[in-house]
Order: sequence, then C-alpha cells, then structure tokens
Amino acid sequence: MNQIASATAIANPNIAFIKYWGDKDPMLRIPANGSLSMNLSNLQSRTTVRYDSTLERDELILDRKVPDDLAVERVTRFLDYVRHLAGISYYARVESENNFPTGSGIASSASAFAALSLAASKAAGLQLDERSLSRLARRGSGSACRSVPAGFVEWQSGEDDDSSYAFSLAPADHWQLYDCIAIVSQEHKKTGSREGHALAETSLLQNTRVGDATRRLDLCRQAILNRDFQAFTEIVELDSNLMHAVMMTSQPRLFYWQPATLAVMRAVVDWRRNGIPVCFTIDAGPNVHVITLADHSSRVIADLVQIPGVSKVLVSRPGKAVRLSEE
Ligand code: DP6
Repeated sequence: MNQIASATAIANPNIAFIKYWGDKDPMLRIPANGSLSMNLSNLQSRTTVRYDSTLERDELILDRKVPDDLAVERVTRFLDYVRHLAGISYYARVESENNFPTGSGIASSASAFAALSLAASKAAGLQLDERSLSRLARRGSGSACRSVPAGFVEWQSGEDDDSSYAFSLAPADHWQLYDCIAIVSQEHKKTGSREGHALAETSLLQNTRVGDATRRLDLCRQAILNRDFQAFTEIVELDSNLMHAVMMTSQPRLFYWQPATLAVMRAVVDWRRNGIPVCFTIDAGPNVHVITLADHSSRVIADLVQIPGVSKVLVSRPGKAVRLSEE
C-alpha cells in the first residue's frame, strides 16, 4: 500500500419497519431478532478515510468538529478490525458529514458506519462483496448493515458473524413510499441505542416481542412485496409500539416520546380514519417517521408542519445502496 491511501463513500440512513432491539451477542451485534427497513434517499453520511503513515493515532472529524473520546474510540476499534482484515498498520484520518441532525433518532450511526465500512475497506485495499460489507458494517452499528444494500432491506438475525447480514428484498423503485420525518427535537438523545439494547432483556415484554418477530417479519415482507399499504400499516405500527413498550418497561425505563410525538401519532390515526393512507413508526428518539404514498405526500407534509411542536419535516423516498464517491 502507498504511504497515503484514501477513499470516500456515501450512505443513506434507514428507517426500520420491523425493529432491531436487543442482542444475542452484543460484541458482534448479533441481534435478538431479524429486522426490515427502507433506506432514506435524501439523508446521507459522506465519509472519507485516509490512511497515512505519518499519523500517530486515528483522527476523527464529525460534522467539522472533533467529537468526544467515546466516538473516537468506537471508530478506532472498528478501524482496528479493518486493519486486521487488510493486514495493514497505518492510522487513519476520518472525516464524516451528515446532512441531517446527528443523534436525534434518525439513525445517524447506520449511515455513518455503512459509509465508513466502504471507505475504510476500499482505502485499505480490500474488495468486499455486499454481504461481507454488510457484516463489517454490523460490527460498527447493528442497523448499519441494513444501509449497505439498496432499497427495501432485510437483516437476517443469523447465529454468528457469518450468518448475520442484510440483503435487498426489493429495489428502491419497487414502491414509492414517502417517509416524512416530523422533527420535534434536534437534541442529542440522552440514552444511546447501545445502552438501550443492553436493557431490552430487563423488560418482561422483550421475550414476547422477540418470540413473535418471525411472524411480523413475514407479514411486513409480504406487505412490501405486494405493495399492500393497509397490511403494511397494521404491522409497522404494531412493531413500533411493541419496541416502545419494551423500552418503557425496561429497568431503568427508557421513555423517548415528547408531547409532540404523541400529537403526531394521534393526527396520523385521525388522517387514516379520513381515508388517507398513512402510518407512523418511531426509533430511539422523539421524532416520528410518517409513511405515506406519493399521491398523498404533499398533503401529509403540509398538515404535519401545522402540528404545534413540529419544527420541520424531512422527506425521503427509498434510497440507494452504499456507494463510492468520485471526489
Ligand atoms: C431503534 O443500530 O443504532 O433504531 O448497534 O448500538 O449502533 P447500535 O444500535 P443501532 O440500533 C437501532 C435501534 C432502532 C431500531 C432499528 O433501527 O432497527
């Protein structure tokens, strides 16, 4: 390898329709249950990795700032594994930028580690196929493995490092779903998902949630493949509510919602009663992902911004796979 080798990659975050919450193996991030998601076209992380023989440690710049030590440590641990795979020892300078608020329940770790996986492996001289790249991304952040393939994506839980990876169920143009994310807070969340996953087992409800996951995955997969919005709504809202029920009943409990979160959920249910195809899903934060179909998206966006407490709405359609950037 040259003294200096670099690569830049772009990845979209994803919204889970069937959620990942809790691990069978927290080190390798082998999840308690499989999950299913859609990449988000208009949100992205763009990450450059530059190995440099003159560096004495890894350097990380996130959104033009030096992040806290924990973030640097997490990236260094990840790069150590890439260096081990590639048989290199140079440290790297990593620069990453998101075009959306970090840490607010829009899974920034998913797009960050998907982009980092491609940029770091490519710059290290590795040629990983999609499955290997997804497995690598999973070690950085579980949901990142789902930002590697395109469009609508399933993460099969698997049992070990080899069998736990994500694959595309359908390409981005399969179904023109709109994800209208109602932003009710841009604050960095207090409890990150890593601590949250570790608490899942303390909820009485987690075993029941995990035990029924295969059934929900089957229903959601079918709804997507058949473009059946009604079936999709039922299973997506149920799955989100189940995960939040586990969060709220963990010890200590996790409560991510704010008053405006509930206001959006209630509005969505009202709109649906009035015949609009629309449903909600919420990750580990207060913002609400409101999913609708192309013909109804303008109306839904206009109505969302009227709800007190909603500061803005970020709109995405199904997004692409992780990719290298030319510059
Ligand atoms: C609620 O993938 O962010 O968004 O592996 O600790 O980075 P780490 O966890 P992460 O967990 C995602 C949790 C979720 C649900 C989901 O995206 O499936």
